[in-house]
Amino acid sequence: MIKFLSLLIIIGFSSIRMNAQERISRYRPSVDPDRIILNISGEATTSMAVTWRTDTTVIESVAQLAPNLPTVRLADSAVTVTGTYTDVAGDGFVSRYHSVNFTGLTPDKEYAYRVGSGANASEWFTFETASAAPEPLTFIYFGDSQGSSSLYARVLRQAYRSAPDASLMIFSGDLVDGGSGGIPHDEEWGVWHAAGGFIHAEVPVLPTPGNHEHYDPAVRGKRDLNSYWRPGFTLPENGPEGLEETAYYVDYQGVRFIFLNSDEMMRNETHAESQTLWLEGVLKENPCKWTVMTFHHPLYSTSARRDNTTIRERLKPLIDRYKVDLVLTGHDHTYARGHVMPDGLEKKGRRAGTVYVVSVSGAKQYQQDATQWWDRGMTFTQTWQEITVDGNELTYNAYDASGSLADHFTLKKKKDDTNLFKSTVATEIH
Ligand SMILES: [Fe+2]
Ligand SMILES: [Fe+2]
Repeated sequence: MIKFLSLLIIIGFSSIRMNAQERISRYRPSVDPDRIILNISGEATTSMAVTWRTDTTVIESVAQLAPNLPTVRLADSAVTVTGTYTDVAGDGFVSRYHSVNFTGLTPDKEYAYRVGSGANASEWFTFETASAAPEPLTFIYFGDSQGSSSLYARVLRQAYRSAPDASLMIFSGDLVDGGSGGIPHDEEWGVWHAAGGFIHAEVPVLPTPGNHEHYDPAVRGKRDLNSYWRPGFTLPENGPEGLEETAYYVDYQGVRFIFLNSDEMMRNETHAESQTLWLEGVLKENPCKWTVMTFHHPLYSTSARRDNTTIRERLKPLIDRYKVDLVLTGHDHTYARGHVMPDGLEKKGRRAGTVYVVSVSGAKQYQQDATQWWDRGMTFTQTWQEITVDGNELTYNAYDASGSLADHFTLKKKKDDTNLFKSTVATEIH
């Protein structure tokens, strides 16, 4: 009897595994555009890029663009812009990802656009170009959204409700998990896009990949960039060769946003060296008052077993030398915020070195057991971060999934380019 039950259990597990491997994504493409997402791939003042998905019967990559006029005859004022497409085979079908660049736009202006054509065109969406002069800018930052994306959706949507005029949403990697648990890759992206919905189509997204965007769902040890990454986004190609759309920078209203591919930096000496050299150039020739760096693996981990020595040894000297204001990371699935002075010794005080943040927007959560470098830490707490830069002041607010303020600080830029740090977190937040 026991043998018979064991056999039944073995058969049961085998069929579950087979079903998982053979599962086809719930999010099959159709003739109608979906996964519509804005990115900035050139000058933020004069361009905007849009990417969307259809099935392979759609042979044209067209979008319409107009000033966001009040008239219902918006289409009469629209121009048609043609782009390109890339097919991605996997998870039981072929998807077609279309990409269009809107260029020659006017700074600080609202536009309306739709993608696709005829009866299969999308609804009209709107976006705004960046101002040519430094003006107040709010952006939202999300740590890892991977893992049970059903819990991530509420964070993204509350962030949008909280800061509907945010100009950018930046992601520090591990947007998706990369095939664990037998969930098709495509389905993970389907869930991620479903969480963002129309928000992705109206607020430009700037992501960098994490280690989970480099896992192969079939062969875990193989570490190529997720096959949906480059077709699914239209990001800058101004980074080191071979890391296009994963390491890049964007200037937006007086802030230089620098994105690195830290997974490649950890695993590939050539890509570590090329990113280090590139980063130095991008920091040295920086016309912006503020510098925000985003990548996946933190310089200072919250876990004793996850110390990213390569990242710290390569990046810390440059971050200190060029006085980077803020470093936004993920990977550790906790929340931690602190500053470590250039000499590496002084951890507290009003005069800030660079502020380092680790955060997580999704459900996957870890403990904190590293030697504490952070001034504010939280575990098992999903957060999003709203950051506003206005002249010489940067205001940072982190909110938890209930919408409560979970962390707060300001940086005031002094004449010598150092920052005065102030946090009221200890008295205001419990
Ligand atoms: Fe992660
Ligand atoms: Fe990670």
